[in-house]
Amino acid sequence: MVQNSSLTDSPSGLKQSVKQHWEEEPCGTRFAIGDAENNERLAFFENISRSRYAVEPFIKTFARFENYKNKKVLEIGVGAGADFENWVQSGAKATGLDLTQAAIELTRERLSLKGYLENQYALKTADAENLTLDDNSFDLVYSYGVIHHSPDTEKCLDEIYRVLKPGGTTKLMVYATFSMTGILLWIRHALLKGRPFQSQKDVIFNHLESPGTKTYTPSEFKEMMQKHGFEVTSIRKQLGVGDLLNMPLSQKYSHPLYRIFYKIYPRPLIKLIGNGLGLFLLCEARKPD
Ligand SMILES: C[S@@+](CC[C@H](N)C(=O)[O-])C[C@H]1O[C@@H](n2cnc3c(N)ncnc32)[C@H](O)[C@@H]1O
Repeated sequence: MVQNSSLTDSPSGLKQSVKQHWEEEPCGTRFAIGDAENNERLAFFENISRSRYAVEPFIKTFARFENYKNKKVLEIGVGAGADFENWVQSGAKATGLDLTQAAIELTRERLSLKGYLENQYALKTADAENLTLDDNSFDLVYSYGVIHHSPDTEKCLDEIYRVLKPGGTTKLMVYATFSMTGILLWIRHALLKGRPFQSQKDVIFNHLESPGTKTYTPSEFKEMMQKHGFEVTSIRKQLGVGDLLNMPLSQKYSHPLYRIFYKIYPRPLIKLIGNGLGLFLLCEARKPD
């Protein structure tokens, strides 16, 4: 794999780069930049949630927020807090963590604007690879789009297993190896740069979101979960917002050619081909009794 060596010199150096990336653009906030600039904070958060569940309605069917009333739920990597708000709203005893101060502050602000009291939930910065939480303490550990960003994903799985109660469930979204997002990034960062033999996995490692992002095939991830003791109850790929280019383009794609490509992108065809082209790998598993 051709990796950017400055990113991988040391796991702690990489963790620092991951943290810095997400401190600078907390996940999901791009959906609502306009409102943030106008300082309409409640509208800003509502806009993030509205866009999130409009373009990715499967998140709600995957999470099943409503099933966790009075259950102990841990969310790892809360980002801008849209899902975390749903755990709290559904009456779960919710604890939320994130590597970054930015995400924790945003999520706390979101909940406060929505009228929730601080004693209704727990939120703190923490590293998924080293949780300072008790063994066997949660009914559900939920983490959406997070642990593939952490340098030692297997350590995250060890921690998730440790803090889950026997019989407890984990719901994880990690990135899948072959996807439309991967193909688009491969065209831009490999093909057009004369490196057609560079793999999608490699391109994603160096160019998708924070440095060092990993991807897995369904069978690789299933095997990894089983190695850590989990019983995998379901695993499937899902087309996401990036595969369908359903999100606003960021500044780095301001060139007119990108704008034209965005307009003519064959979304209906990709939907017809289906979830096999999806970046998201949705995995549900349980810790045996
Ligand atoms: C792609 S965002 C996803 C956020 C949110 N779950 C969502 O779906 O919008 C990734 C998040 O994972 C957090 N993160 C990355 N590595 C982490 C780690 N080792 N421990 C805790 N959080 C981590 C980042 O700070 C960032 O907020």
